[in-house]
Amino acid sequence: MIRFDKVFLRYDTGISLRDLSFSIEKDEFVYLYGDSGSGKSSILKMIYMDMFPNAGTVEVMGSDSSNIKRRDIAKIRQNIGMVFQDFYLLSDRDIYSNIALPLEIQGYKADEVRSKVALKADELGIRSRLSHYPHELSAGEQQRVVLARAVVNSPDILLADEPIAHLDEKAAAEIVQYLWKVHESGTCVVFATHNEALLKRDPARSMTLVSGEVVKDRQL
Ligand SMILES: Nc1ncnc2c1ncn2[C@@H]1O[C@H](COP(=O)(O)OP(=O)(O)OP(=O)(O)O)[C@@H](O)[C@H]1O
Ligand SMILES: [Mg+2]
Repeated sequence: MIRFDKVFLRYDTGISLRDLSFSIEKDEFVYLYGDSGSGKSSILKMIYMDMFPNAGTVEVMGSDSSNIKRRDIAKIRQNIGMVFQDFYLLSDRDIYSNIALPLEIQGYKADEVRSKVALKADELGIRSRLSHYPHELSAGEQQRVVLARAVVNSPDILLADEPIAHLDEKAAAEIVQYLWKVHESGTCVVFATHNEALLKRDPARSMTLVSGEVVKDRQL
């Protein structure tokens, strides 16, 4: 489903990922663990084909970063839900429209959009917020909205970049539980975090990054 082969990524500031090779299968739940600056977001952005390696290849659902066409990137993204680290909610759209966006892009009928948005909003406890605007929500509520938007069209892959960073312990536990539920429904989940307690607690594969290198890959 996801394969990195000898991937290097360089920013102007220096090399951020070096000689990274790993693969993630369809049925996996993987914690991507590492300190700030270790390269977690860079890896997720490469899986989302938002960034491309300077050397090596990234293969996602059969498409290869070295020769993928722009329209194929759009197609891949229809099957990838992305929870960005810094939200990216559209401030001029209400919560309903923010969650509905991926469905509208894919041309779903209005009544299908309504029922799918309602279902996810219920599951994540934000039903009463649908007519509000992002700035009217707490950070934790916005985090749930971002997650609802990422899973609203039942993607094959869910990339979650620090999805619990703004939450207290109880709310964080609920979100983690929700991500496991998403995984059980058949979605491959890659969860970037610097929260070591999660890895210790949950029976999942965990890849540990230090300065852009995988130093440990705990398989189950
Ligand atoms: N747009 C950018 N321009 C230059 N350097 C960048 C850029 N984005 C990331 N980097 C650098 O690449 C490295 C990896 O960054 P990345 O954001 O992937 O880390 P991270 O593990 O997600 O960190 P955090 O836990 O703080 O989110 C860091 O050294 C960072 O400074
Ligand atoms: Mg990050």
